[in-house]
Amino acid sequence: MSRGNSQMVRTAFLLIAILASALAGCQKGAEGPSEIVIGVAGPMTGDQSKLGGDVERGARLAVEEWNARGGINGKKLRLEVGDDQHDPKQAVSVANKLVNSGIVGMVGHFNSSASIPASAVYHSSGVPMITPASTNPRLTDQGFWNVFRVCGRDDQQGKVAADFAGGQLKLKRVAILHDKTTYGQGLAEEFRKSLAAHPETEVVSFDGVTQGDKDFRGILTSIKGKNPELFFFGGVFPEGGQLAKQAKEVGLTAPMLSGDGVIDPKFIEIAGAAAEGTYLTFTPDPENMPEAKEFLEKYKAKYGNELAPYAIYSYDAANILLTALAEAEKEGKIKDGKRVAEIMRNVNYDGALGHIEFDEKGDVKKSPYIVWITKNGKFEEFWKPQG
Ligand code: ALA
Repeated sequence: MSRGNSQMVRTAFLLIAILASALAGCQKGAEGPSEIVIGVAGPMTGDQSKLGGDVERGARLAVEEWNARGGINGKKLRLEVGDDQHDPKQAVSVANKLVNSGIVGMVGHFNSSASIPASAVYHSSGVPMITPASTNPRLTDQGFWNVFRVCGRDDQQGKVAADFAGGQLKLKRVAILHDKTTYGQGLAEEFRKSLAAHPETEVVSFDGVTQGDKDFRGILTSIKGKNPELFFFGGVFPEGGQLAKQAKEVGLTAPMLSGDGVIDPKFIEIAGAAAEGTYLTFTPDPENMPEAKEFLEKYKAKYGNELAPYAIYSYDAANILLTALAEAEKEGKIKDGKRVAEIMRNVNYDGALGHIEFDEKGDVKKSPYIVWITKNGKFEEFWKPQG
């Protein structure tokens, strides 16, 4: 190599080094005080990734709208995504990671088995969290100042399921199954507890299955032997879909009744024709709610038509959090989690789900569970409790 050439190479290296350090500086600037970071977490990969994805998409839509309006006090918002794979340990590690990345608020997690352990991390780090989907009562019964949810609770959901099976269908014999998770077992227990108000309805069995298993024919055959008129499942769609399908395969013709963890198009995809006639507790159809119209149009335009039951919850959760953060920013207190939570507790919010107010615990004041049915490969509203 000639002397002139090696001089050129040195100059080129120098230029690259200067450019790299300038770029690093820019990046640092972008993460600095000109930006506000909030987290969103759920099962982003694995068998429940549809649910995590819905929650991320709902929150992202809200963040993009705030940014289009100029962010908060001229600062752009950034969404930091955490994948807890619906695993309690992973949820704690994701929570620590998000806290370390500087989040000032959290949308999530999705599963109660993730939200409950993660809530302790956000609590000790002073970060407010608002879950779109975690329904286990323990989450808000812990008494943490930083915890909110926009969904209902499983003591409410389980009661509606029991009033339907006992009071409406007047069943004499029901079997109960659950997936041994905080949510699934909790909901099954709430269902059983509320059935006490319907003494004519006997619980003929109460069993747990293991999340991730694929073959439930053994337990379903044993349940068939007990001759129930319905079997309840507390759990999520991957197992719910297999249970509905395999029940028919072993000749258990009694319908399944399940909850918010199963009401997803993936359930029908897995169960196929066997999904027909399955009852599911969830809240009323946003397609019939004028408040939800704008959200649904925007969501479908951006992400397509696939039903995403919890995306709307995530959108409202993110909007409530961002409203409180914007208020706190005006007081110079956006990093004061306690102040942000105090603003959230007093929020009077009209969103895509209608009017939302929180009680002292961080639960919504209203959560109108109803029963849906699976019919012609779709979900439709079926029964509303009186009063
Ligand atoms: N409602 C379900 C749970 O709490 C998704 O895990």
